[in-house]
Amino acid sequence: PEEPPAVAAVPQAGDPSLLLRRVGVVDASSLDDYRAHGGYTALRRAFELGPAGVIREVTDSGLVGRGGAAFPTGRKWQATASQPDHPHYLVCNADESEPGTFKDRVLMEGDPYALVEAITIASYAISAHRAFVYIRGEYPRAVHRLQYAIDQARARGLLGDDILGQGYRLDIEIRRGAGAYICGEETALFNSIEGYRGEPRSKPPFPVEKGLFGKPTVENNVETLVNVLPILTMGAPAYAAIGTGRSTGPKLFCVSGSVERPGVYELPFGATLGELLELAGVREGLRAVLLGGAAGGFVRPDELGVPLTFEGTREAGTTLGSGVVMAFDDTVPLPRLLLRIAEFFRDESCGQCVPCRVGTVRQEEALRRIVERTGAGAADDIALLREVGRAMRDASICGLGQTAWNAVESAIDRLGAYE
Ligand code: NAI
Ligand code: SF4
Repeated sequence: PEEPPAVAAVPQAGDPSLLLRRVGVVDASSLDDYRAHGGYTALRRAFELGPAGVIREVTDSGLVGRGGAAFPTGRKWQATASQPDHPHYLVCNADESEPGTFKDRVLMEGDPYALVEAITIASYAISAHRAFVYIRGEYPRAVHRLQYAIDQARARGLLGDDILGQGYRLDIEIRRGAGAYICGEETALFNSIEGYRGEPRSKPPFPVEKGLFGKPTVENNVETLVNVLPILTMGAPAYAAIGTGRSTGPKLFCVSGSVERPGVYELPFGATLGELLELAGVREGLRAVLLGGAAGGFVRPDELGVPLTFEGTREAGTTLGSGVVMAFDDTVPLPRLLLRIAEFFRDESCGQCVPCRVGTVRQEEALRRIVERTGAGAADDIALLREVGRAMRDASICGLGQTAWNAVESAIDRLGAYE
């Protein structure tokens, strides 16, 4: 086992970039370069704190999940750590499939050792000795780079039987998805790893009690895990001072559509949508911005002051989700866009439960009739859409069906999409 070298650069309060600071700067294949840029400082700190101390720091930081649902990370870790049933597992959800989301890809391709270090810390905190990363099949470069980083870390005593000479044992295994959106839902993801069909399980029980192979499991998104590094190196109070009281820390936003400079942007929570769009170079004739992806909601051009926080977007009637920001100008035909979203959900429904299996088909049919003007009239089809949408929201097993009508409802009510 090797001792980490003297620290060259660890994140400090006030750094403009905490999550992306090594992306495009370090050689993604080089463990030495990663360490020269502050890598493995956080793990050393984790070993000083011990598992309970790490969970306390993460809890005090206010970190919430960045996959979209914003569940408190420390609470999740504590719930699994305290389960008497063993083994415990750590699963990193890298199935990033929400349309318009590409931040985890940038992290995995540009700073793969950061994810390996973060997974090691999380696994240590919850006493897991086996961790999995489930990466969407469409990300071959991320798979390649992460596998290389895992192999290098193992060869250098940073994974394996005696990490950094601390007597802690961990191995990380990569599993590849095969193109199904639903396999990003955490319990469908467990089924997929176990070799079953990727169908969601009913919750509760939550994975913290019964997850992968029926054992206590923490499932975290890539960005969530990478946040643990600055939390440990800066300390929870400095981290919690970034952002707002209820949305702490930095956030990655995936900006696409009608902007001059699409890409991944890192901003502290609390920046406004208008500020973000200014950075990305918003184009003339902005008609609407979709927040939260296909399951999210629209914001109008007169609402760009909305703060980019979980609570702020909720108050504005939409969601921050995983950080999708899609801008549409007035050249985009909204009814066609909504039909495309409906096609997506109909394609990706796993078919396990009736409200979603049938509802996503009915939704697409109604939207197509409106676009092609083949039905009795838009008013009738909008009434039908509301009825079907309510049934999907109330009675579907998982988030896919529960949110498949969100964007369409939002476009009707907030943008007057068919007026
Ligand atoms: P959820 O709200 O059911 O759960 C969020 C997390 O908290 C899960 O890990 C769940 O196990 C845990 N949890 C919830 N209540 C708990 C409790 N009482 N005790 C212990 N753990 C608990 O949301 P879900 O369905 O996991 O995720 C939905 C989100 O996923 C949406 O916001 C959507 O934006 C996002 N999403 C992101 C995608 C991406 O590519 N990043 C793709 C599709 C959806
Ligand atoms: Fe499958 Fe849709 Fe039911 Fe989820 S809501 S279990 S995706 S059919």
